[in-house]
Amino acid sequence: MTPMRIFSGIQPTGSKHLGNYIGAIAQYVEGQDRGEALYCLVDLHATTLPYEPVELRRSLYDLTALLLAAGVDPERCILFRQGDVQEHTELCWLLCSVTELGRLQRMHQFRDKSLAQRELVSAGLLLYPVLQAADVLAYRAHEVPVGEDQREHLELMRDVARRFNARFGEGQEVLVVPEHRIPTVGARIMDLQAPERKMSTTGGTEQGTVLVLDPPAAIEKKFKSAVTDSGSEIKRDPQKPGISNLIDILAAVRGVGTEAIEMEFSSARYGEFKLAVAAAVVERLQPVRERYELLRADEPELERILAQGAEKAREIASQTLIDVRHHMGVGPPRRVQPLP
Ligand code: TYM
Repeated sequence: MTPMRIFSGIQPTGSKHLGNYIGAIAQYVEGQDRGEALYCLVDLHATTLPYEPVELRRSLYDLTALLLAAGVDPERCILFRQGDVQEHTELCWLLCSVTELGRLQRMHQFRDKSLAQRELVSAGLLLYPVLQAADVLAYRAHEVPVGEDQREHLELMRDVARRFNARFGEGQEVLVVPEHRIPTVGARIMDLQAPERKMSTTGGTEQGTVLVLDPPAAIEKKFKSAVTDSGSEIKRDPQKPGISNLIDILAAVRGVGTEAIEMEFSSARYGEFKLAVAAAVVERLQPVRERYELLRADEPELERILAQGAEKAREIASQTLIDVRHHMGVGPPRRVQPLP
């Protein structure tokens, strides 16, 4: 029986923030104990918006060191760079044949990101979700840990896999239809200054975005100045997005339900509560920051880890591509094993 296979991808752009940490990175670490995990730094996806090549390489090492520092362990998972495994781009092209153009044009992220472009809306931006589908389907992964903002991409990916199997599978499940794994608490961490917007280095406020590598004093300052709501009760409520977000953050960091936090702080004031959230986040992130400094200094070692991961990834993905090409009638016929 194939073990449970877990796959996720993360973009090597910008500085990673508390939303990425809670929504995704912490889940990657936990996934290593539940199955065969693959984590991919998606440099090809990062070329779909304007970028600087030198910067991309640098950010890729930054992110590799960050993931390692957070507990992603190359001995217990496959950590690799997307651009090292050419099967992703080939499968992306092949999957285009079962992907509806109108659906890509209607994707929220495509609409938002294309509206924000002044010069060029690249075709890559439109095809972004197909490449993301290829990332996961190339490994026949069962589960994809992501934050809430990836839900639409996951739905498209599932439909593409189903449509491929229906069109080319000849009754077989050539591609696995994956399930998303979105955390129950912390799937959408909001900006501390503008809690109606998700925390993000591109669309958020600087003061409202807690970076994984922020020094403790900066983290405390950001939480102290977090926007809270009128009233004084520490309780989740759609009318109180600021307090609800802080409750979610503390619950996710401590690994408990939101009710436990509401109960513990039922007679606390907002100021006191904000300090408690800041302290928990600092305690969680400080060791990551310390390990990061050491790991980031050794680029040849980071490169070695990525190359080793790519080799293992290629082994799996190349098998899928042999099957996909065969079913699609692309390239030479698959060699039949001679009888012994
Ligand atoms: P990316 O790099 O934007 O984000 C990485 C992960 O962080 C999660 N996330 C959040 N979670 C909670 N609250 C937030 N405010 C928040 N902001 C970001 C994202 O949901 C994501 O899980 N398209 C993907 C990368 C990708 C991918 C894949 C993911 C490429 N191929 C295959 C899964 C499978 C992206 O841009 O993630």
